Amino acid sequence: MNNTWLDTVVEDRRDETDRIVVLELLSADGSDLPEFAAGAHVDVLVNERLGLVRQYSLCGPPHDRSRYRLAVLIESASRGGSAGMHALSKGDLVRVSKPRNKFGIDDEARRHVLLAGGIGITPLLAMSHTLDSIGAEYEMHYCARSRSDAAFVEDLEDDPRVTLHFDNGPDDQRLSLSTDVGSPRSDTALYVCGPGGFMDFVVSSALNAGWDASSIHMERFAPTEANAASKDDESFIVRLARSGREFEVPPQDTVLDVLLHNEVDAPYSCQQGICGECVVAVLAGEPDHRDDVLTDREHEQGQFATCTSRSHSTILELDL
Ligand code: FES
Repeated sequence: MNNTWLDTVVEDRRDETDRIVVLELLSADGSDLPEFAAGAHVDVLVNERLGLVRQYSLCGPPHDRSRYRLAVLIESASRGGSAGMHALSKGDLVRVSKPRNKFGIDDEARRHVLLAGGIGITPLLAMSHTLDSIGAEYEMHYCARSRSDAAFVEDLEDDPRVTLHFDNGPDDQRLSLSTDVGSPRSDTALYVCGPGGFMDFVVSSALNAGWDASSIHMERFAPTEANAASKDDESFIVRLARSGREFEVPPQDTVLDVLLHNEVDAPYSCQQGICGECVVAVLAGEPDHRDDVLTDREHEQGQFATCTSRSHSTILELDL
């Protein structure tokens, strides 16, 4: 992982809900932190000894460079990431990457609809800060299991642009895209973030209602099963256009595995096809796209995620 780590210190830690902790990180030397745009995330080096790195969205106001605000849900099956973050205390040192963003605000849209499920509120909260500051027209729909499971609810509940939807509430307050968002409009961008089931529900409802796929912007926290490795995967050759080197990618390895094994300086972060950091251009061959971060249009333009995607052709040439 080719990160330049920034040293930060936990200035504040508070339990936002029983399962969500909010951390305020300040630069360890007191300087301003690198700027970020709404929707960005950082890598956090949760455990240096184990090399455990996790990605978290920045949810504070993007204009405030004095701090990075993270909200972290403890996962019941945590392999150390969220549990490590919950174990942090005020004054602890935390190493983070510079912010990255594959989930920005659509500059062409005149109306913005933010659709959050659970902890998916985090990047959308940053977007609401930016949209607010530029006077853009927006609304937010925030779905959670219950009021006590919803983070930042006290900040949001009096805002007329925000509608809260709780799974344990009456049926008529559950999110319905047609009722709550209305008919498709070409000037409107939808932004969706949350658990897989929520994302699938919102995206399929939007497409069925006639929203254009290009109007739907989303960020996943976990890869979809559809993109998982298959027992039918076959070997292929990856060719690096700049050096002419060629490597075989066996069924059990990813392109990124092979590049790193051969000491190629390839970018990467999540290794799950959800962050966009490993994306490079395909120059020849027929890619088999298996990421959850690039749009159909970006695939058509030749962008390729080395950490998950494979090749239909026997040779795939990359701009590396
Ligand atoms: S490393 Fe994150 S998408 Fe490939």
